[in-house]
Amino acid sequence: MIKPQTLYALKTSKNQTSSSSLLKRIKRHVTGREKEFFAATSPGLESLCLYELKTFAETGNDFIETNGGVQFAGRITDCFSANLNLRTANRILMRIGEFKATNFMQLEKKLSDFPWELYLPADSRPDINTSTKQSRLYHKDAIAEIFAASIEKRFALNGFAQAAQDSSIPQQIFVRADNDRFIVSIDSSGELLYRRGIKTHRATAPLRETTAAAILKISGYDGSEPLLDPMCGSGTFSLEAAMISQNIPAGRFRNFAFMNWPCFGPQRWAYIKRKAESGVKLISSPRIFASDIDSGACDSLISCIIKYDMLKTVQVEQKDFFDLSPNALTKDKGLVVINPPYGRRMGSRSESVKLFYAVCEKLEKDFSGWKIAMIAPDITLLNSLPPTFKAQTLYHGGLKISLLYGRI
Ligand SMILES: C[S@@+](CC[C@H](N)C(=O)[O-])C[C@H]1O[C@@H](n2cnc3c(N)ncnc32)[C@H](O)[C@@H]1O
Repeated sequence: MIKPQTLYALKTSKNQTSSSSLLKRIKRHVTGREKEFFAATSPGLESLCLYELKTFAETGNDFIETNGGVQFAGRITDCFSANLNLRTANRILMRIGEFKATNFMQLEKKLSDFPWELYLPADSRPDINTSTKQSRLYHKDAIAEIFAASIEKRFALNGFAQAAQDSSIPQQIFVRADNDRFIVSIDSSGELLYRRGIKTHRATAPLRETTAAAILKISGYDGSEPLLDPMCGSGTFSLEAAMISQNIPAGRFRNFAFMNWPCFGPQRWAYIKRKAESGVKLISSPRIFASDIDSGACDSLISCIIKYDMLKTVQVEQKDFFDLSPNALTKDKGLVVINPPYGRRMGSRSESVKLFYAVCEKLEKDFSGWKIAMIAPDITLLNSLPPTFKAQTLYHGGLKISLLYGRI
């Protein structure tokens, strides 16, 4: 139960509602009813995200896979749970309003009594992220200004609302105008969900954790088999695999924007976390083997693994991939996942392709029977691999990457 006396500060103007009436309204409009959510993903990851949502959803929520994500109906607790558990989503949005407006006066009128205090902490100045399509109102900055002014005015009139516990977590409102219809959503995640809160060390060309999780899933990794990450860099694949193999919820080590919302109930959140933690498995000896030619990268990853108590899950050593023998690490065959340093640092495309062929040759020689997931300089190189190999294009923060995967 949220204790009103600890979370709300009473101001004395005539217009103010009491804290208990605000709590009642929050219950009526937010916590006590189904809301619509959208788990936004990078293009191509929608079906993986849908699969993930279905595996931990408590009830038969209505899921609709659409371009750029999965829409679902549920309680606020489903939103908290999605943030905590999803490995492939970028953020979870909660829809808070929908209306038509064809001119600025109409937009101002629609927003004049919008109950922002039900969703936002009192002192927040959220970023307003606007997109428009085939709408008479298309000036994104002007639309954002009207939204910002309406939020400020609402709080000035009704100073009575919960202040943010941690104002360093950003709040964001997403406004989408499509054919003059405005859809208003609030971002429940804060920082993008690929930020798991583990990696503080710097790296060259790191992958996003959401992309790494998707690559592991696409290539059939289920957490039980050995995993080799022989060009590990900052260790994105290894850390992600460590969390998957132990069933550690993706968001265990971070905070979320919803934790500052007026509807946030710490006890409800503690229950959701306890439930997720009850599935965590202990591992007795490492099945994830990370290595890199760069000793600095290995040292940083080791420090991170020690800090997050994953020494029993991940083993790190400094090694040239071309000197690596998988049999020296494990007698079982599993997945080897490779993200070589292509692109600008490699110089020309022909240099990248040469490295790709050298990696393939090494894999063919020493990794027979292993599953392979490899990022390639481009997708046409699939033709140089055995016919059972498949390709998938993924998007990594706007960049296209080509994943080739199969078994040798
Ligand atoms: C693109 S980065 C990998 C990024 C990594 N996936 C991450 O998320 O941080 C490529 C890595 O390959 C390593 N590397 C290059 N040549 C290598 C080799 N012959 N053996 C092992 N590692 C190598 C580099 O040191 C670099 O850390």
